[in-house]
Amino acid sequence: MNSRGVLISLEGPDGAGKTTQIELLADNAVKGGFRTLRTREPGGTPLGDDVRAILLNPCYQEMTPLTEVFLYAAARAQLFEQVVEPALRQGFLVLCDRFIDSSLAYQSYGGNVSFDFVLQVNLAAIKRRLPDHTFILDLPPEKGLNRRPCAHADRVEQKPLTFHSSVRAGFLALAERFPERITVIDATLPKEEVCSQIWQVVLPLLARC
Ligand SMILES: Nc1ncnc2c1ncn2[C@@H]1O[C@H](COP(=O)(O)OP(=O)(O)OP(=O)(O)O)[C@@H](O)[C@H]1O
Ligand SMILES: [Mg+2]
Repeated sequence: MNSRGVLISLEGPDGAGKTTQIELLADNAVKGGFRTLRTREPGGTPLGDDVRAILLNPCYQEMTPLTEVFLYAAARAQLFEQVVEPALRQGFLVLCDRFIDSSLAYQSYGGNVSFDFVLQVNLAAIKRRLPDHTFILDLPPEKGLNRRPCAHADRVEQKPLTFHSSVRAGFLALAERFPERITVIDATLPKEEVCSQIWQVVLPLLARC
């Protein structure tokens, strides 16, 4: 494992508050004097942003779960090598808005692709450098979807509620499978309370930055 820098990922269903929390965490970290990098998935690089446009394009209703595995992993591999790895090497706190666990929850638990296959493809994409800690912002999927302005739901958001329920169950199963790395946070709490619970776990890790 990379001994410098700290890698934190925020995960959870659409509308759970991941982007909101990344902003609040980045504010806290910058105020604390920590060099901080925010990124989001899929995307975070010019190439990855183009892959994101394909992944979320509602025209591609025919996209198979296996195709999704490779496209997400391709964008992730590019992000890792081009952005995340160099920042960690320089001792940054890197905050990822979605990471490897989204692939496991959406493509394996939601899309029924073999768990071990999705895990191995993605471990290769991130050179086996798992996050130091991952937070799953948990809430009923309909609540998350209703929080969004949702004028134009993307291809993933348009999937049926049963799919989103499987994804939520998948995230919770991941937390049971990797209890040391993953903390589940009740995302229905007020934003400030969610942020405070995350910060309590992140702060002690920042000694490495
Ligand atoms: N704890 C909270 N309580 C109530 N509303 C919240 C909370 N956190 C975020 N929101 C609101 O919910 C909406 C969605 O939040 P946000 O965009 O951060 O979610 P997200 O998880 O990043 O969604 P997506 O997966 O679509 O990117 C925003 O309008 C935000 O202000
Ligand atoms: Mg977001």
